[in-house]
Amino acid sequence: MTGTVVAGSFASLVPTPTSVEPGTGTLVLGSDTVVVAPSGGRADDAIALLRTAVGASSGLDLPVRTERDVADGPSITFVGPADPDALGEEGYELSITNDGVEVRAGSHDGFVWAVQTLLQALPAEAVGPSGGERSFALPVGVVRDAPRYPWRGAMLDVARHFFGPDDVEAFVDLLSAYKLNRLHLHLSDDQGWRIEIRAHPELAEVGGASAVGGGPGGSFIQEQYRGIVEYARRRGVTVVPEIDTPGHTNAALHAVPALNGDGSAPEAYRGVRVGFSSLCVTDEFTFEWWDDVVRELAALTPGRWIHLGGDESNATEHEDYRRYVARASRIVVDHGKVPIGWEEIGAADLPDGTIAQHWLDPAKAVAAAGRGASLVLSPASHTYLDICHVEGGPGNPWAGTVSARDVYDWDPATLLDGVPDEQVLGVEGPLWTELVEDRATIQERTIPRLPALAEVGWSEQSARCWDEFRARISVHAERWDLLHWAWTRDAGIDWPP
Ligand code: ACM
Repeated sequence: MTGTVVAGSFASLVPTPTSVEPGTGTLVLGSDTVVVAPSGGRADDAIALLRTAVGASSGLDLPVRTERDVADGPSITFVGPADPDALGEEGYELSITNDGVEVRAGSHDGFVWAVQTLLQALPAEAVGPSGGERSFALPVGVVRDAPRYPWRGAMLDVARHFFGPDDVEAFVDLLSAYKLNRLHLHLSDDQGWRIEIRAHPELAEVGGASAVGGGPGGSFIQEQYRGIVEYARRRGVTVVPEIDTPGHTNAALHAVPALNGDGSAPEAYRGVRVGFSSLCVTDEFTFEWWDDVVRELAALTPGRWIHLGGDESNATEHEDYRRYVARASRIVVDHGKVPIGWEEIGAADLPDGTIAQHWLDPAKAVAAAGRGASLVLSPASHTYLDICHVEGGPGNPWAGTVSARDVYDWDPATLLDGVPDEQVLGVEGPLWTELVEDRATIQERTIPRLPALAEVGWSEQSARCWDEFRARISVHAERWDLLHWAWTRDAGIDWPP
């Protein structure tokens, strides 16, 4: 081996793990380091992530074996636990000694999270581009880890402005790096329809051709959507598609005149007002159409959930809204999926297992919980990533300001009076894109706030402390720069110069 050795550390892991026992010394990765994979392929995606990152930065090949050879140097050995349930659905253990690494997990996603921790324990340069004569070392020690909540999500609005597969996949890379496991794609709104539905091709062809401000819009053909779903799956992230109904539907109403009841279609909409559109929910055609949409989405989506929207349906008469939501969510169940909707759906009778997403009005979220729904928490004042970090800063101002500290400093278990923690599935940070038009802006709005939310969802409340978090996350800036991820110098954090 030539050149300098750059060593990593456990000091700035985000989200902070359940426990870290640092040891002494380091394990240097060299040309004799090998990876040992368990049978069955459960760790293959995690191993690919490790080899791609380390290969790009160091040129090391990290050959993969099914068993260690006597001639091999240190090994990074992936193994299932003796008791498959011992580490939980997403938990993992890393044991790093001077001789090698043992990675234990009971699931595909557990292995992915273990590798994300290994990558964070390597020096920043190890996730960047190739940089000449140097090698990388891991710190010796043991990490045991498992998430607090099963739902740790981010939402990307591809309706107000459209983002293609490359931009969405770059967003998935960010989610996976911080162990966020749900990508909620907001696929339709007044301004655009973004997914091909073969039974109604005009939805994408006509409804996809608009965006906020008059841009060209766009939409995913089904193969592209499948590609995103698979890219995300390999990185531990499940896609949750949303078709927002019965309001936020101008693009669908424009493309499919029969959804208007009287057959008269509105013009395409390129503004930013909300609450003015509604499907004609007293017409049987609307339910036949919804059945077609859900059937195709369900077939494209291996994840368990389909989001039916349900927010701000101010143009739908209240009793009609209640009947629509009850029936539309039942159709989701009939296609084998779990319905999720914004908190307003709590006004309706909901099938067992339905999830409500709190965003604005605690009373509505509590009502949904009272009907038995479990809750994903996206309170605007703590999780809305389109809102300005500081007064007068870039972003939407309607929910005041949302600093990284606002995102970090709250407890999901005590947010809503009368909703026990057992009914809280987790947290999600929505990025609405009325004012977001490119990948760099997606990253500026979400970094560092999304990593902060990732720790809210992953780490136990007792393990979280803002002052400690702000010190840890500041160290990540070097990684973001090496990865060419744009980010915001949030004023509550002392960033490197
Ligand atoms: C929302 O922000 N309308 C859910």
